[in-house]
Amino acid sequence: MDNFEDFFTATFETATLANNVVTLKGLRECSEGPSSAESIMQAIENSRDFLTEHLPWIHDTDIFDIKKRIRSWILNERFGQGGCWLIFKNSGNEVSAGPTTPMAGAIMMDVKLSNRSATLSYWLCKDFAGQGLMTEAVKLLSAYAFTTLKLNRLELLVSVYNDKSAAVAKRCGFTEEGICRDFELINGKFVDHRRFSLLARDVY
Ligand SMILES: CC(C)(COP(=O)(O)OP(=O)(O)OC[C@H]1O[C@@H](n2cnc3c(N)ncnc32)[C@H](O)[C@@H]1OP(=O)(O)O)[C@@H](O)C(=O)NCCC(=O)NCCS
Repeated sequence: MDNFEDFFTATFETATLANNVVTLKGLRECSEGPSSAESIMQAIENSRDFLTEHLPWIHDTDIFDIKKRIRSWILNERFGQGGCWLIFKNSGNEVSAGPTTPMAGAIMMDVKLSNRSATLSYWLCKDFAGQGLMTEAVKLLSAYAFTTLKLNRLELLVSVYNDKSAAVAKRCGFTEEGICRDFELINGKFVDHRRFSLLARDVY
């Protein structure tokens, strides 16, 4: 490919992705429904204690912060730098991200175009954990990243205390590469992180 940057910015969008378990819907500015800032805030509120252990930004977040984050992800998408998808659980074999379906969580992709790589991050609402939804979301987004977006490398950085997240990485075929020391300041403590990667050639 002659100019990967042109190809990528023309191709990248937070397109709706679905399999028989989850639907991933690109984050938009919505005034109502499950994708609205108010619904996202409510979902976080209901899971605040569960999420705060590993996600420092959750601690102080409020509706203004959520709206700012939504705008920032939309801008990132416009410039081909990344995107955020809301995760919905499908019922049976039906793709369902309808107006009354509650969000199950979110998955984000931060793109480093010059390296054809991206870092994934994610969270689930407490009531949707333990059902395999994040594993499916990561597999779906990885397939999109490698086949449609032609990225070469995906990374996941996981606190050494976050075994559930490391298990997601392993179930999705990521390889553990090592430890990033003091990688993140979480709730006042510098925490080491395990770095995982998945390459296009690992899968295709
Ligand atoms: C990290 C996090 C997303 C992992 O969630 P999770 O529910 O463990 O992951 P999955 O959705 O893939 O579900 C896997 C669980 O469902 C079970 N499961 C049930 N059906 C399954 C299926 N069809 N496929 C895979 N797993 C299935 C698995 O056994 C596993 O449960 P276990 O841990 O008790 O063995 C979640 O703990 C979370 O949001 N934590 C707070 C935020 C956070 O830490 N984010 C990550 C920062 S790096």
